[in-house]
Amino acid sequence: MHIPVLQKEVLQYLNPKPNENFIDATYGEGGHTLAILERNGPRGKILGIDWEIRVRYKNERLILVQDNFANLKEIVEKYKFQPVQGILFDLGLSSWHLEKSGRGFSFKKREPLDMRYSLENKLCAEKIVNYWSKFDIEKILREYGQERKAKRVAEKIIEERKIKPIKTTVQLREIINKARTTPRRTFQALRIAVNDELENLKKVLPQALEILEPGGRLVIISFHSLEDRIVKNFLKGNQNLLQILTKKPIGPTQTEIKINPRSRSAKLRATIKL
Ligand SMILES: C[S@@+](CC[C@H](N)C(=O)[O-])C[C@H]1O[C@@H](n2cnc3c(N)ncnc32)[C@H](O)[C@@H]1O
Repeated sequence: MHIPVLQKEVLQYLNPKPNENFIDATYGEGGHTLAILERNGPRGKILGIDWEIRVRYKNERLILVQDNFANLKEIVEKYKFQPVQGILFDLGLSSWHLEKSGRGFSFKKREPLDMRYSLENKLCAEKIVNYWSKFDIEKILREYGQERKAKRVAEKIIEERKIKPIKTTVQLREIINKARTTPRRTFQALRIAVNDELENLKKVLPQALEILEPGGRLVIISFHSLEDRIVKNFLKGNQNLLQILTKKPIGPTQTEIKINPRSRSAKLRATIKL
């Protein structure tokens, strides 16, 4: 089951009130959306966006759109969804991707190497490991995976793919094993590259700020330091337009980590548009 991360904190900073409109830019299983819907009635709406809509709750105050959140401004214009009093980003992948998607997000499973959030995306992990140059593979392993043995892993991938195409998580895990490092960082790097996660985040933050009403709240939960750095720098660089509500990022309590280990690396930053 999907448990929304930092739910209490999201509600505290997003502070939904009756009849306000919100955008949940990473709708996922709708966990945060449902909590907001309980507070912004009877006329407040939610625009839920996800690259792949998997769950549809019947509620006339909820509009669901399947798209890349990097197109936020266009989506808001298309649906004439304004004014907007709050926008939420709960970045990355959901437990459904790891546990149920069958798309090779988890190195603990035996699955095809896909890693796409949207099946309309032309790039998948299998293409990267079988067709990209050693230089490009090493670069993403270093930049997106912060893998110190990036060069060695890239070399092993090139060696192995000459013998046989790399098609599954198990094959890739064994190759990484030969480079004497853990699979976690390589899997993270491939996922970020396939879904262009950092670029999409950089593109959407200025749009979100523009869309918000004065006094509107922006809440962002990230799960690794690369994302958090982008968010932090964006907030710092726009201090004339916003007031930062979280001097330091907010993390989960020990109790939340126990109930939901996925929350362990979550960092929430929140801001109000001036
Ligand atoms: C951590 S989950 C969100 C979980 C959700 N808050 C909930 O409570 O159920 C992140 C979601 O963002 C989606 N996602 C990631 N990148 C996206 C993008 N660029 N555009 C749209 N959705 C994206 C993923 O498909 C995933 O469902």
